[in-house]
Amino acid sequence: MTTTTPTPAPAATAKISVQEVSKTFPLRGEDFVALDRVSLDIADNEFVTVVGPSGCGKSTLMNVLAGLEEPTSGRALVDGKDVAGPGPDRGVIFQQYALFPWLTVRKNVEFGLKVAGLPAAERRERAEHFIRLVGLDQFADALPKMLSGGMKQRCAIARAYAVDPSILLMDEPFGALDALTRVTLQEQLLETWSREKRTVMFITHDVDEAVFLANRVVVMAARPGRIYDVVDVGLPYPRTEEVRLSPEFARLRNRVWHSVYHQTPALNAQEG
Ligand SMILES: Nc1ncnc2c1ncn2[C@@H]1O[C@H](COP(=O)(O)OP(=O)(O)OP(=O)(O)O)[C@@H](O)[C@H]1O
Ligand SMILES: [Mg+2]
Repeated sequence: MTTTTPTPAPAATAKISVQEVSKTFPLRGEDFVALDRVSLDIADNEFVTVVGPSGCGKSTLMNVLAGLEEPTSGRALVDGKDVAGPGPDRGVIFQQYALFPWLTVRKNVEFGLKVAGLPAAERRERAEHFIRLVGLDQFADALPKMLSGGMKQRCAIARAYAVDPSILLMDEPFGALDALTRVTLQEQLLETWSREKRTVMFITHDVDEAVFLANRVVVMAARPGRIYDVVDVGLPYPRTEEVRLSPEFARLRNRVWHSVYHQTPALNAQEG
């Protein structure tokens, strides 16, 4: 059920393939290593969460995949092709919900479709579908300032989904939310994902969230930023309250927690 392989062998079918990616930033005349030979393959429609201490390179890794940062060495591939910049195949959701404050929910969701040149009627229909999917139909004509944090985040999810990317890159999307809203959005995200399958890389600080959502949890370590542990989550979907309260969930959470906070896969020895 669990593996400890820090660098899984690249599979020919990988949707996302990160191969020995290093990223250094100049810092006071020296090279600061934000990512140190990170290798990770993510399968089509897989849901991978990434946890790790602040500064371990999670956002840097996402930015490399989003095409916003170039690796110093190594390769990042999507569908077998080197990432050469941002593209409509990757929907990015940033920690600060980047909605346009002067546009309504509907116009925000339609924005990417307009850029892509879709005719108005088609835009409207697609936006409608995704607004309904995230449960914001009552607020389609509201401006972002009229929405709660959780609703803004759902709008950002609808907007990312609407352009139909095959990959969703989400950087701590629920980080700023209270626990209850967070749990609700986790369940909604999984429900959306089960209906509209995507390959997801989801960054979080929250170990429970990491385990609850994922097929696989990637634990990173800092200085230098690297993959420290990879934990397969064999829990069934849909992930109900029952799953969250199960002994297996607790076991996986403890395992990831130990990896993150002690940077020691503490329970490995017991698993053989
Ligand atoms: N553009 C940049 N220039 C210089 N240093 C950078 C740059 N971007 C990131 N870094 C450094 O690289 C390291 C990793 O940053 P990154 O944002 O990827 O961490 P993170 O794991 O996302 O942290 P957090 O959990 O706090 O969001 C940090 O030490 C950061 O200071
Ligand atoms: Mg970050």
